[in-house]
Amino acid sequence: MKINVLLSPISVDELYFTGKTTVVIDILRATTTIISALGNGAKEIIPVATVEFAVKVSGGMFGGQTLLGGERNTKKIEGFALGNSPMEYSEDIISGKSIILYTTNGTKAIVKAKFSGELFICAFSNISALAEHLVKLNKDVEILCAGRLNNFSMEDTVCAGKLINEIVKLNNDTILTDSAIASVSLNKSFGKSLLKMLKETEHGKLLIENGYEEDLKFCSKLNTTDSIPYFTGNILKLITNNKDISSSEHEN
Ligand code: MLT
Repeated sequence: MKINVLLSPISVDELYFTGKTTVVIDILRATTTIISALGNGAKEIIPVATVEFAVKVSGGMFGGQTLLGGERNTKKIEGFALGNSPMEYSEDIISGKSIILYTTNGTKAIVKAKFSGELFICAFSNISALAEHLVKLNKDVEILCAGRLNNFSMEDTVCAGKLINEIVKLNNDTILTDSAIASVSLNKSFGKSLLKMLKETEHGKLLIENGYEEDLKFCSKLNTTDSIPYFTGNILKLITNNKDISSSEHEN
């Protein structure tokens, strides 16, 4: 099993992902929000790459069962029901709903990797469950850090390093590329206090400035869930732990 880390989506094009097993990470906040929303009972999440497409898709879907969510420059988009704070996606609001989600970096990265054979969503909250799942699959893995505006982001890379550590604990035959080794090293240096690390990142500082400090606490929590979202037929759904996780069961 070989693991590579893409430190930003800019380094590859969409076709790069064809048939690959991909993990997308956007700690602040898209992948943390997706895991939380599906864990709280959302029926599905439709990630989109533009606001215009979000609005267009929502027009074709079933009224009250669909919610538009997402952010621009960290803030809720006018006319959308929800922003991109994971805490907004509580059970009473989103249970049973289809959510169309647009975010500046995270959903764009997911859409970019849409040709993957399998595509999973990772945040600090589901690292252990996802590591176990990937080791069972035993395929080479591409970890795509959503980054920020096509640049490197510390929090996504630290999360990639932490995920790799968990995989290596379970499978010591794992081969790491240079970027994977660098991610492990960054996690060693900055991954001990996740909240402290998040507060020092560019995106973390921006979120604090805009009044979302509580989100940093939420996004820093490690292994709080077994929820693993996967992408199938242009939507994100949850794999549950009691389901046998072989790629043949995915509907792609
Ligand atoms: C993104 O996709 O860029 C983020 O999730 C932005 C944010 O929510 O602050």
